[in-house]
Amino acid sequence: MDLIELRGSDRDWMPALGELFFDVIDGGGSLGFLEDIDEAQMREYWEGVFDQLGPRHRLWIAREGDRALGTVQLSICGKPNGRHRAEVQKLMVHRDARRRGLAAQLMAALETAARGQALSLLVLDTEAQSAAETFYQSQGFQRTGEIPFFATSPQGELRATALYWKRLE
Ligand SMILES: CC(C)(COP(=O)(O)OP(=O)(O)OC[C@H]1O[C@@H](n2cnc3c(N)ncnc32)[C@H](O)[C@@H]1OP(=O)(O)O)[C@@H](O)C(=O)NCCC(=O)NCCS
Repeated sequence: MDLIELRGSDRDWMPALGELFFDVIDGGGSLGFLEDIDEAQMREYWEGVFDQLGPRHRLWIAREGDRALGTVQLSICGKPNGRHRAEVQKLMVHRDARRRGLAAQLMAALETAARGQALSLLVLDTEAQSAAETFYQSQGFQRTGEIPFFATSPQGELRATALYWKRLE
């Protein structure tokens, strides 16, 4: 397994990323989609991501052969007063590959890149009371609070989201 950053021209990774995302949604992961998402919507989502890739939107994968076992994105704020901060988006690890430290390695690569771009604040939101909360806390993120009824789970229930931040010294 190794970690690589993808560029806008690396679209041949789209099917593997789609397969990973379907697995995470099947497992109940709340990442912006419902469980009825189809292949066309999945392709459209990844096309949109690859269209944005560049210095202000970055994407890493954990790959094993031609499989993507995990991924994460960094989206840098474009507002003049927010150029020091970025949002962590769509961190996910395939159910077959969890608790092997992949998410921690993806976040380490993201943080190194963020520091390299002189960013000093990371923010994110994630489903409240999910395993992801424990994960982010283990990586030094601070919990600010939660917003109830924020997002529909893949199974159609309204769930709270928890807001997190981490200062990069
Ligand atoms: C959250 C997620 C990314 C963690 O990925 P992972 O590769 O299994 O995480 P790691 O192996 O790097 O875990 C590092 C530490 O985080 C904590 N952790 C991770 N998963 C956990 C779980 N299910 N329960 C409790 N703690 C957990 C542990 O402290 C773990 O260290 P340990 O294994 O030595 O105890 C993965 O479970 C996932 O993809 N979930 C669904 C998608 C999702 O919710 N993404 C976040 C959206 S913002």
